[in-house]
Amino acid sequence: MRPEEQALEARFHEALRKDRSRAPEWMTRWDYQEGLKKRKRTYEDGVVSDFFTFGGAPDLLKWMSWFRTDYPDYIQDERITALVDASRVNDERITRSLGLELDKVVYDKRVGLNNAHDHLLPRSYPVPERARIRTVLDFGAGYGRQANLWTTQDPDLCYIGMDAIVNSYCLQHLYYKGLGVPFTDYIDQQGTYQFEHKGGIQHIPTWRSDLIPDGSVDLVMCVQVLPELNSRLVRHMLGEFKRVLKPGGAFYIRDHAYTWKPTDSFDVEQYLAGNGFDLEFRAHIINDVEIHGIPRIWRKVLPEVIASRTRTWKQKLEQAVVDVDTMTGGGFKRTMRKLKGSR
Ligand SMILES: C[S@@+](CC[C@H](N)C(=O)[O-])C[C@H]1O[C@@H](n2cnc3c(N)ncnc32)[C@H](O)[C@@H]1O
Repeated sequence: MRPEEQALEARFHEALRKDRSRAPEWMTRWDYQEGLKKRKRTYEDGVVSDFFTFGGAPDLLKWMSWFRTDYPDYIQDERITALVDASRVNDERITRSLGLELDKVVYDKRVGLNNAHDHLLPRSYPVPERARIRTVLDFGAGYGRQANLWTTQDPDLCYIGMDAIVNSYCLQHLYYKGLGVPFTDYIDQQGTYQFEHKGGIQHIPTWRSDLIPDGSVDLVMCVQVLPELNSRLVRHMLGEFKRVLKPGGAFYIRDHAYTWKPTDSFDVEQYLAGNGFDLEFRAHIINDVEIHGIPRIWRKVLPEVIASRTRTWKQKLEQAVVDVDTMTGGGFKRTMRKLKGSR
């Protein structure tokens, strides 16, 4: 590992050590991978098999190899092709700058397609101006792949990457830096870091989500993350997502919707429905045949939206009058008019 990569890993551990009182053990756990480790399961060669150490830049290609098969794509249109092309150009540049070579043979239908899906789907239908996406929080950000399209397609966008696992966090750092957009990392400014709402990337560990101001985020993304974490952490983060989202802000989830649930049995959807979120979109697709994982978009409730689709007492009363008038063949309203006239 290069000295600067060793220093990066040390900075992550140092930040975690200093912040330990804010970072309980359950908050910094990746339950699924810890389970695999306990069972002494490893992935085949060429794929990261221990996420709890950092192996330097070559781990980036190993992470990319985790996308092991060509993915299905029910969308298949020119928007996807353009995004895959843009994603590939960026990744060629980033990997080259790190002295690595991208596997272009498999790129488009794996990494490229995943990036394109997660960039297109949350923006794929019209929304009111107040719901336009200007700030994004990517929770459990892998090696950082989602920043590829989100930051380069919209230079004004504020993208927040969040993670707590040393391998992922350090790779995100290298990847975000390689993208060449403005980039600030909490672990580089320990003790002085302040969240800034500006175009580019803010990198923050899970245990410092408190640094993101209330009601400041338009979109939270959790792609293939929540089913792999313990329910205490998921509950905590759902509370944080609700806090940081603007009213009406979007929460995009793409995973196997609990058909695959390697940790405990916490039901995210049920929790969201009962805790101030409203389901706006769930693709009616066959999981893993038409797309990998079921895309859903929940919204943090904007009270005016709910009020506008809930009948008021006045509307209920007016309808009751119409119903009685209908039953009496118009007699009810005639009588009421006569009574008013005779006064
Ligand atoms: C299966 S990967 C998905 C990565 C990414 N969302 C993607 O689609 O490429 C799960 C991610 O969750 C992250 N993760 C695990 N435990 C976490 C925790 N306690 N806090 C934040 N992220 C965590 C991992 O480091 C990894 O980045």
